Amino acid sequence: MDYSRLKQIAAEKAVEEVKDGMFVGLGTGSTAKFAIIKIAKKIKDGHLKNIYGIPTSKKTEELAAGLGIPLLSLNQLFKLRTKNVERRTLNIERTKLIDITIDGADEVDSDLNLIKGGGGALLREKVIAQNTGRLLIVVDKTKLSSRLGEKFFVPVEVLQFALESEINFLESLGAKTDIRKSDDGGFFVTDEGNYIIDANFGKIENPAELNSLLNERAGIVEHGIFLNKLVDSVYCSSNDGIEILS
Ligand code: 5RP
Repeated sequence: MDYSRLKQIAAEKAVEEVKDGMFVGLGTGSTAKFAIIKIAKKIKDGHLKNIYGIPTSKKTEELAAGLGIPLLSLNQLFKLRTKNVERRTLNIERTKLIDITIDGADEVDSDLNLIKGGGGALLREKVIAQNTGRLLIVVDKTKLSSRLGEKFFVPVEVLQFALESEINFLESLGAKTDIRKSDDGGFFVTDEGNYIIDANFGKIENPAELNSLLNERAGIVEHGIFLNKLVDSVYCSSNDGIEILS
């Protein structure tokens, strides 16, 4: 089966978890796109009702709006769902204001830590993930590895202002770096107006430690390591069928 079909199978299986009345985080990338198309079809056919999508990127927002999925921004959702709630009582690690999010990944290790951000949407994707009750990751089996970094670099979103100094910082940690380019040859600019440095650390022995190091650094806005505490299930498709890892 070709990769595109495998992506579609994983994405559509995850959509079975979306039920009437849910607030649904809509991921970014070619696999998440299949989930969005399926959700839109179910809404159109009357098989899903009272659904609101919360997009993880401008691209996803355009796609979902074009397909007729009712959308809310995260700010709108927050206001709507915390009207009668004492905000300080929310769990700040995961507020669960979004019922379920379906998103792709670039690499998944055997502990279900992820690398994301190949599509450049890692910042909004992580914000949505941390506001989500259940994060379902949809991949084909080629994305699985024993250690992060075997198959993919770590996208690091940095302030334009700090570009050279962050390259220097990442190289001091042992990474080989590339500034991400867009199709027109200029630097790729994220939805939040930042640059991305693709940092190749080789095999990452301790993702939690690297996560902390990158989190602590001023100038790094966000990075593509998503630790497994954010992840509920990975829907992984292969020619043998679909496996749900959790
Ligand atoms: C975008 C992402 C994507 O989910 C990731 O790059 C996987 O994309 P695809 O499904 O096209 O392989 O993190 O920022």
